[in-house]
Amino acid sequence: MRPAWDHEAGDLARVHDQAFDHPWSASEIAELIGSPGAFALVAEDAAPAAFILCRAVAGEAEILTLAVEPAARRRGLARALVEAAAGVARIAGAEAMFLEVADDNVAAIGLYEAAGFDRAGLRRGYYDRGPQGYVDALVMRLDLGRAAL
Ligand SMILES: CC(C)(COP(=O)(O)OP(=O)(O)OC[C@H]1O[C@@H](n2cnc3c(N)ncnc32)[C@H](O)[C@@H]1OP(=O)(O)O)[C@@H](O)C(=O)NCCC(=O)NCCS
Repeated sequence: MRPAWDHEAGDLARVHDQAFDHPWSASEIAELIGSPGAFALVAEDAAPAAFILCRAVAGEAEILTLAVEPAARRRGLARALVEAAAGVARIAGAEAMFLEVADDNVAAIGLYEAAGFDRAGLRRGYYDRGPQGYVDALVMRLDLGRAAL
């Protein structure tokens, strides 16, 4: 587990592409990492295999994205990244960490619940799945004051 290097946006975009239907480009990822309060952590095999991108501003942190390449899943990488990100956010002064996740994303919801996040709200029709229609987003919250991560 380590911070992402500046030159790694292309590697992170490759991992993101394997995890999401709407991949983010290397330049989009680089721009996000460079935005105020943002930080990215990486878990690697030979190359980056997983990463988390977060922002911590004004006492609140947000997980912007989390992706693990398929071959590296169910080995605890995402959980370790979430725990490390919660630690960084806490050091940055955040009292809570939020995220949005599609309410049909069983793997991610299982991960976040296992990491101590609670369900904090619902955004109806948040994700556009094209011909399949719209999917609600669950808003989840981790109390960084209380969490034992
Ligand atoms: C969701 C995702 C990040 C999980 O990554 P991972 O490294 O495989 O997760 P971990 O191995 O750390 O799993 C930790 C816990 O999460 C839960 N979990 C993970 N994958 C799961 C699955 N497919 N089904 C049910 N629970 C799952 C389990 O509780 C697991 O603990 P266990 O393995 O001891 O049972 C990964 O599947 C992924 O990249 N998916 C596509 C992108 C995505 O959905 N990102 C999150 C968007 S908010």
